[in-house]
Amino acid sequence: LNEPLNVAEVIERAAATVEPNVWCYFEGGAGDEVTLRSNVAAFRRWLLRPRMLVDVAEVSTATTVLGTPVSMPLGIAPFALQRLLDPEAERAISRASSAAGALMTVPTLTSYTHGELNAAAQGPRWLQLYVQRDRQLTLDHLAEVREAGYGAVVLTVDLPYVGRRERDLRLGFAVPADLRLHYGTLVDVAPDLTWRDLEWVRDATELPLVLKGILTHEDATLAVDHGADAVWVSNHGGRQLDGVAASLDALPEVVEAVGGRCEVYVDGGFRRGTDVLKALALGARAAFAARAVAAGLAVGGEAGVAHVLELFRGEIELGLALLGCTSPDQVSRSHVEPTVPYDPPA
Ligand SMILES: Cc1cc2nc3c(=O)[nH]c(=O)nc-3n(C[C@H](O)[C@H](O)[C@H](O)COP(=O)(O)O)c2cc1C
Repeated sequence: LNEPLNVAEVIERAAATVEPNVWCYFEGGAGDEVTLRSNVAAFRRWLLRPRMLVDVAEVSTATTVLGTPVSMPLGIAPFALQRLLDPEAERAISRASSAAGALMTVPTLTSYTHGELNAAAQGPRWLQLYVQRDRQLTLDHLAEVREAGYGAVVLTVDLPYVGRRERDLRLGFAVPADLRLHYGTLVDVAPDLTWRDLEWVRDATELPLVLKGILTHEDATLAVDHGADAVWVSNHGGRQLDGVAASLDALPEVVEAVGGRCEVYVDGGFRRGTDVLKALALGARAAFAARAVAAGLAVGGEAGVAHVLELFRGEIELGLALLGCTSPDQVSRSHVEPTVPYDPPA
């Protein structure tokens, strides 16, 4: 009876469990947190349009991302400093996501090495990359990743500098000096990365390249023109530039610009299976969640993450059936409509 029934309840519990001067880092956003709130609110601006009298006796949530089979169209977004929530950190998430067949994105700022993570579990895994000022560190990082079972490199492009997160400042959050991070730090992220560097990243790895942090059709077009294998719509969970569009609202213009030339993903504010269905209807191949998973980790370690993933999977499955779809592929633009008249960007 005490099990959290949904992701919002898991998040509530995490907020009540973790020290405030630590949880602020996971929960908070930049500036006035307008974008942080907007990410969640955006889902309310779209209504589902279910179809009736469809045979939904057999429903599967399984899909693929960049050709890799996954159990559902909801993966784990990269988030740093997991060890502050649980000693097993990225290892706990790796085990839980592998058991669930869900995709995990391992952050550059991980407390376990790629070798340790590969030894812990071998489920579908992508690497999130922050290019460091010292490019050699990034080359070494990518070399180490070669044997570690990753399916793609997710290059984060929306953090030339860290956004100003006032909750952290108010509560005095600081990364503990003894927290080991193997592959870089936030303060050393390269602020001078440009489109021209993409070629350099491509040369340094054989893995497909995903660009994370795209919010405009202009950049979506540039991404495809520069050979990105996928585009990941994100505002970094409202933690970077405050006042940008909710991810879900930026998704349609990116999908249109990409025009089917590569897969499009989205993250920001996902708490419900129906949130994921709305993203699929608007053209995303898959959605990702960070804070929902962080909350699961904080509340119950590996089991807490497993619980959050199962909440999402179960809600996606039921949602598909009630929408009149038997698989994620069947969700189309006709399955959503805006609650208010919607003017697509020109
Ligand atoms: C605590 C925290 C740390 C994060 N660290 C990273 C990171 O190291 N690299 C990255 O690309 N994105 C990072 N993100 C952004 C997430 O990958 C993702 O874009 C965003 O949080 C999704 O929104 P959600 O938290 O509402 O699910 C972080 C997000 C949070 C909440």
